[in-house]
Amino acid sequence: MNKELLKLVEPHGTPLFILDHNVIRENYRTFKKHLPRVQCYYAVKANSTQQIIETLFNEGSSFDVASYNEFMQVYQYIKHFDKKDKKHFVWDKIIFSNTIKDRSTLSKIKQYRPLVTYDNMAELKKLKDHCDTAGLVVRLKVPDTGSQVEMSSKFGAEPAEAQNLIQQAFDMGLKVEGISFHVGSQCTNFDNFTSALAITSEIFNDARRKGFNLNLVDIGGGFPVPYDPQVPEFKILAGLLNSEFKRLFPDDIEILAEPGRFMVATAATLISEIIGKARREGKVFYHINDGVYHTFSGVVYDHWIPNFSAVKEGEKEICAVVGPTCDSFDKITLSAELPANLEVGDCLFTENIGAYSTASSTKFNGFDGAKIIHMNL
Ligand SMILES: Cc1ncc(COP(=O)(O)O)c(C=O)c1O
Repeated sequence: MNKELLKLVEPHGTPLFILDHNVIRENYRTFKKHLPRVQCYYAVKANSTQQIIETLFNEGSSFDVASYNEFMQVYQYIKHFDKKDKKHFVWDKIIFSNTIKDRSTLSKIKQYRPLVTYDNMAELKKLKDHCDTAGLVVRLKVPDTGSQVEMSSKFGAEPAEAQNLIQQAFDMGLKVEGISFHVGSQCTNFDNFTSALAITSEIFNDARRKGFNLNLVDIGGGFPVPYDPQVPEFKILAGLLNSEFKRLFPDDIEILAEPGRFMVATAATLISEIIGKARREGKVFYHINDGVYHTFSGVVYDHWIPNFSAVKEGEKEICAVVGPTCDSFDKITLSAELPANLEVGDCLFTENIGAYSTASSTKFNGFDGAKIIHMNL
């Protein structure tokens, strides 16, 4: 496979981010197959490349957007719909999952009936003033122990606070549709999901008892990607979730999820090129033409540990792989097991780099970042 991909280097150069849309389709279908009750909202933030949105739109996916710009990226596929269908699509297939939205975004989306999350009183007031057409989803703070990226220190209301926020919303004449949570990204500890569902069901059932007609539960993202063989299988998580849905919630509710990483991580491979080589304090340093300010930004923001492999064989050593910028912070890894005989011009491969990579790449030091090549578009 790597040798096949290497043929793309000659016409396109490096660094090259090769995105296979068949893998995205497969991931979407796997998700739907194992979680048939769940409406899948792709979290655009994981990789907002327009062609990914198009592929998932054509698969019938719904979308989780974090900003007005992400909303507009989805909107371009429905702009030709008539007014009624457009409104229906926004209501049925888009969620603004960022619990904090600025006033101008709210004013712009008020014309639809958007589904939005919130977790505090100030947001509720803002929603009342600038977007009272919205369907509200209160976001809970839930355990995220062991997840690669935690969420609970910045988002989510404690259970008692959430109950109050539901009451307050109805008192203000707003409509709460349901409850959401996020167990942290790349969640390999499935207890986080079961705890979150248990907390959610208590608040959900309590609200219904009080006469508030909640209709949905949004289980967020966090679905793990097989970066290494220790990662427990998605199929097992899905089985667990399906039985918890049945046990804890009435049959008539909608269940939503916002998978980001799961849809795109395995769909991309990066080919980078060695542009310099040095021995520093005994260790081989490969300087490559991509780094933590660019496609490897996930090393910083996503706490991701990338993998490297080479086409050329040779005796392996623990090597450093570092980026092209003048910043000494731009070190991708100090512990890649690679042949020590690689030379300037040789290429390195990094698999499973589709999520939280190009999405947070910058142009620091004047480097453009990787060229994106689409396969099976
Ligand atoms: C609100 C929300 N939903 C969904 C996601 C996607 O999470 P994941 O990529 O772990 O599936 C994120 C990630 O930050 C998020 O903040």
